[in-house]
Amino acid sequence: VPYQIIILAAGQGKRMKAKQNKQFISLENKPLIVHTLDVFYNDPNCTLINLVINPNEQSEMENLLAHFKYTNKVSLVHGGVERQDSVYQGLKACASKDGVVLIHDGARPFVKKDSLERLTEQAEYIGAALLAVPVTDTIKRKTDSGLTSLNRNELWAAQTPQAFHFSIIEKAHEHAKKTGYLGTDDASLVERLGLPVEIVQGSYDNIKLTTPEDVEKAQAILKKRSMNKGE
Ligand code: CTP
Ligand code: MG
Repeated sequence: VPYQIIILAAGQGKRMKAKQNKQFISLENKPLIVHTLDVFYNDPNCTLINLVINPNEQSEMENLLAHFKYTNKVSLVHGGVERQDSVYQGLKACASKDGVVLIHDGARPFVKKDSLERLTEQAEYIGAALLAVPVTDTIKRKTDSGLTSLNRNELWAAQTPQAFHFSIIEKAHEHAKKTGYLGTDDASLVERLGLPVEIVQGSYDNIKLTTPEDVEKAQAILKKRSMNKGE
């Protein structure tokens, strides 16, 4: 299924506690965001990449795109204060307002090709789909009235990419904006419209690099991959 993608890199990476935006952290001599871009740049189904960035990092990103020879299909878009604002800007900048659009965290470099295929097929069919994995921890809900335990068999950890018919996610973002709703992912905005969203089971390796510990996990995943390739 052909698709456009919005890749989000306009955050600050505060929890990573690095000296700069975590997108520039080097893994096996390549910045994190380059690992993520490579997945989609090399996918023939990906027709356009809107890379959403912090305006202060425009020249750094331009240099990086030139250095790693991204000659076509990548364009830079200025993000906003919250992740949801950055997605909104990315949607506005899409060349086509039809077909399937993916929304993905720049800090999630290990998404697999077969996951992408299953995800985009479901999105085309249902209208909205996301990658997720079954939760392995027991999750507790803590409120002012005390603790409750959730049924783990029903719980999924949401990942990205999340994939949508363009018109559905556009409508969902406009509705969220109008009603002042700020979600932590994009599928939740579609759920609020009462429209169906499908879960596509992804991989536990599709981590988001959030804290310094995640850098070690990422290095282990890269090492496992290069061993599997027989390098
Ligand atoms: N993001 C974005 N625009 C924002 C906030 C986040 O494009 N205003 C992007 C980040 O660059 C990241 C993705 O959304 O790739 C997921 O967000 P998160 O992991 O929270 O990254 P940061 O916001 O950068 O990190 P932190 O919350 O620790 O500051
Ligand atoms: Mg954040």
